[in-house]
Amino acid sequence: MTPVLELAGISKSYRTHLSFRKYWILRDLSLAVREGEVFGFIGTNGAGKTTTIKLALGLIFPDGGSIRLFGQDARRPALRSRVGFLPENPYLYDYLTGAEFLDFHARLFGVAAGERRRRVAALLERVGLRNRGDRQLRHYSKGMLQRIGLAQALINDPDLVILDEPMSGLDPIGRREVRDIILDLKARGRTVFFSTHILSDTEMICDRVGMLVRGTLKAVGTIDDLLSREVPFWEVALRAAGDGALPCGRVVSRREDRILVRVESRQDLHRLLSILNGHGATLISVTPARQSLEDLFLRESRGASPRAAQEGA
Ligand SMILES: Nc1ncnc2c1ncn2[C@@H]1O[C@H](COP(=O)(O)OP(=O)(O)OP(=O)(O)O)[C@@H](O)[C@H]1O
Ligand SMILES: [Mg+2]
Repeated sequence: MTPVLELAGISKSYRTHLSFRKYWILRDLSLAVREGEVFGFIGTNGAGKTTTIKLALGLIFPDGGSIRLFGQDARRPALRSRVGFLPENPYLYDYLTGAEFLDFHARLFGVAAGERRRRVAALLERVGLRNRGDRQLRHYSKGMLQRIGLAQALINDPDLVILDEPMSGLDPIGRREVRDIILDLKARGRTVFFSTHILSDTEMICDRVGMLVRGTLKAVGTIDDLLSREVPFWEVALRAAGDGALPCGRVVSRREDRILVRVESRQDLHRLLSILNGHGATLISVTPARQSLEDLFLRESRGASPRAAQEGA
């Protein structure tokens, strides 16, 4: 299937004003976003996420490599009518109300008046601003501005939605709402590509993630692919009378008849589970200590070479 967005061998540099040196922001970046998936693009501050998004949208151009949207050269302006975009720091018109702001953007896409009214009302509802549509944006809180920005990104009913840090500035309820909106877009068959450094949000909603470390894509795959490489140990919670002496595993804690045991191999885990009954113990839970996305991220970041490999001009 043709990817919705495809970056192939992208590099991007900037020059400093004084030394004319080239600073490489992205190096040989290749990734493909598949139709209907939610793709999380994660990276620390300055990793190059926004730069990648601006390249994908044709707002800036790469030094090398190619970018395709819906299988076509991304430089074709007509393709952008199928893309919705929430910028990192959206510029919003302070004196427009929320509803006027959305209506303005719908006009830019040439949406007819009746349909505009319908979409504006539906989107205000969808982002939790139903009763705030008649307030000027200068009176909106940071979270409300982020929501109206998100509504703006959806006004053209896009096939591909690109969101630069959509959860930033939102409280836990707002973050959950944005997660629900993203999942709803996926349920409607849309493709979502979003950048973030809030890893927990990614684990919950992404089909795949790409991990950008100082301009280089370090890992890409499903969360399970990235995290199931190693399970270092399992924690087994038991309820056992008596001293609860067990032939394998290490007792981590014991409170009344509840025992938490750590086992470090799959064989030991099976052995432990098979002898529980004979020891008068009952199983409460088995928890694989999967490394978190955060662990992987920290490990990949640590291993990275210093950025800004420079070239004299
Ligand atoms: N117009 C520019 N001129 C020079 N350097 C730039 C320019 N835009 C971005 N950079 C540099 O490129 C690097 C990547 O920036 P980018 O904004 O893409 O990072 P990011 O991953 O989006 O970070 P954040 O999480 O802070 O938003 C940074 O070091 C930044 O200083
Ligand atoms: Mg950014």
